[in-house]
Amino acid sequence: MNLAGKHLLLGLTGSIACYKSAELTRLLTQAGATVQVTMTESAAQFITPITMQALSGHPVYISQYDARIDNNMPHIALSRRADAIVIAPASADFIAKLATGLCDDLLSTLAIARDCPLLIVPAMNRQMWQNSATQRNVVQLRCDDIIVLDPDAGSQACGEIGNGRMLEPQAIYEAIIALLHPKKLSGKRILITAGATFEPIDPVRGITNRSSGKMGFALARAAAQAGGRVHLIAGLVELATPWGVSRENIQTAQQMYNSVMATIADIDIFIAVAAVGDWRAAQVSEHKLKKAAGQPLPPLHFVENPDILASVAALPTPPYCVGFAAESSELSINGEAKRRRKNVPLLIGNLGPKTFGKDGNEVVLFDKTGSTPLPLADKQSLARTLVDEIAQRVLGNTLHDPGAMHQLSDC
Ligand code: CTP
Repeated sequence: MNLAGKHLLLGLTGSIACYKSAELTRLLTQAGATVQVTMTESAAQFITPITMQALSGHPVYISQYDARIDNNMPHIALSRRADAIVIAPASADFIAKLATGLCDDLLSTLAIARDCPLLIVPAMNRQMWQNSATQRNVVQLRCDDIIVLDPDAGSQACGEIGNGRMLEPQAIYEAIIALLHPKKLSGKRILITAGATFEPIDPVRGITNRSSGKMGFALARAAAQAGGRVHLIAGLVELATPWGVSRENIQTAQQMYNSVMATIADIDIFIAVAAVGDWRAAQVSEHKLKKAAGQPLPPLHFVENPDILASVAALPTPPYCVGFAAESSELSINGEAKRRRKNVPLLIGNLGPKTFGKDGNEVVLFDKTGSTPLPLADKQSLARTLVDEIAQRVLGNTLHDPGAMHQLSDC
């Protein structure tokens, strides 16, 4: 469970987006967190404390004079138990209060009295978000080491369209996991390729493979949660982009090569998870190849695609390179041979047909010290283990810096 043993204080302020906090509470409790809900009076106009109590399994606090707390100091008692405070939704008014240090209700008072990280998830009308006062307040919060997530763009409850929608519960959930996760790759710039490439033959046909991209996306999520600045170059993948990761979609191996080479100069760690097509049609037909009775089959000639991983590893000052090997047999021999051939310090081998499209994976690590098998695990747990393994090799130690979440600072 991603949040087992974690105590979260979830604060709700007045916004129609309060309904999303109900789903967020479910996600957090299902992940093993204890969720203590605190609401402002305004939030209680949008969703009832009864709903939030039922979903969190704990009484909801609104008043700073709530006598249910033994010493009648809920602003201290509640904030001291928390590993993090999350205000979702955070209204423009509440953000302004935090920026100036005002504390005239329980939630604003306990936010100021906290001794744990504070994560703000704004929700408001697009004009309110763009208003220079709000923007000034957001800059101030970030300068005060408060993490402020950018809102979503899209249609708003008021009927207008723009920036200001509260992030979806799944995105907030991922941001909370990232917040509490040890920052072993803090500030490292990481480039990951994922998924299958597609090599066209004609306008309707092409060659691809069975890679789903799940392992590469799981690694991108885990690397971002570990504090990395992750860019993902994805082939044919029908998966949502992990929170905090930037993404570029390509189709062919040559396009993937071009994108990687355009980005690689700034990269600290390159992880090649993509199942790159080894060959492409020598000539892509402009029109659909037709079958005709009695005619010979159309001739297909192939040329080799560039080897992206080997090309990056051969750069004069390469980033730390990690390869994946999808083998169909004799993994222990083929894995180490491939690591040497590509000249990479770490290669992660698996048996492709056993893992393509599945949620679990069983891999063997190949490095200069030998091979290390890892037990079968779901791809997200495995990705965290692999990120730890990579961090150890890159940094030579295990930095532990929970709570230090990367955010652009205007201070
Ligand atoms: N790779 C790459 N560019 C290619 C082919 C592979 O970057 N043109 C990378 C993959 O992303 C992976 C590693 O090289 O990290 C090994 O890929 P794999 O398909 O297992 O091996 P190949 O090099 O294609 O060799 P073979 O198909 O002969 O096993």
